[in-house]
Amino acid sequence: MSAGTMDHPAAPLLQILDRAQIGPAAAGLVLDAFSARPAPVIGVATGSSPSPLYDALADTQADYRHTTWFALDEYVGLPPGHPESYAEVLRREIIEPLGLDPRSVHLPDPHRADLQAACDDYEGLITAVGGIDVQILGIGRNGHLAFNEPGGALDSRTRVEVLTEDTRRANQRFFDSLDSVPTHCLTQGLGTILEAGQLLLIARGKDKAPALRAALKGPVSPDCPASVLQLHGRVTVLADTAAASLL
Ligand code: GLP
Repeated sequence: MSAGTMDHPAAPLLQILDRAQIGPAAAGLVLDAFSARPAPVIGVATGSSPSPLYDALADTQADYRHTTWFALDEYVGLPPGHPESYAEVLRREIIEPLGLDPRSVHLPDPHRADLQAACDDYEGLITAVGGIDVQILGIGRNGHLAFNEPGGALDSRTRVEVLTEDTRRANQRFFDSLDSVPTHCLTQGLGTILEAGQLLLIARGKDKAPALRAALKGPVSPDCPASVLQLHGRVTVLADTAAASLL
């Protein structure tokens, strides 16, 4: 693959894999980044897509002592310790299985009175550690990245976002009812995500196929936030055959 230029960044590198191969392949990419920097910084996604990656990372028993982790997003309105808050999801998915120091795993704080100040501080923290080396991503059925919903600016920063009905319905499976799904969140912006050194998108399942096609083959447009992947130049997409079925 050519390195691309500023005007024409290299196209995302797509690997279509069996479901069972995705976790180990993704873990290999993340661990490569570990060897490139003594204190690597990893951006983590929640949701079901990256779970095989986290399982594979736990299996490697690599040394995670000098790693720092930043979440993409967090719900607003859930009480501290709510099992579906992303703080708790990350405790279950990475902090405990990888034996991480909880202080090395950061999320934007949804309990601050001034939420935009919490977002600004979060951006400042990412900058202070020298930026994110590898950002792990999933993709929403509606093409969202993190919680950047369709229609927003392509250069957005970390901020409060209103969740669409479609996203709330998609995430209802984690809650008792649709009414229990938060209406707001804090999310890294698309501009924030694009500043990571490399991006690793994992897409699994047939319901992601239209969004993945729009992201990789459609125009770069706010209609499909994940289409910003085409602007980055160092993107790997790991998709199972179902998610890649429309490419
Ligand atoms: C969620 C998260 C995203 C995630 C996406 C896909 O709501 N906020 O970060 O990547 O939607 O989720 P899943 O992997 O469960 O399909």
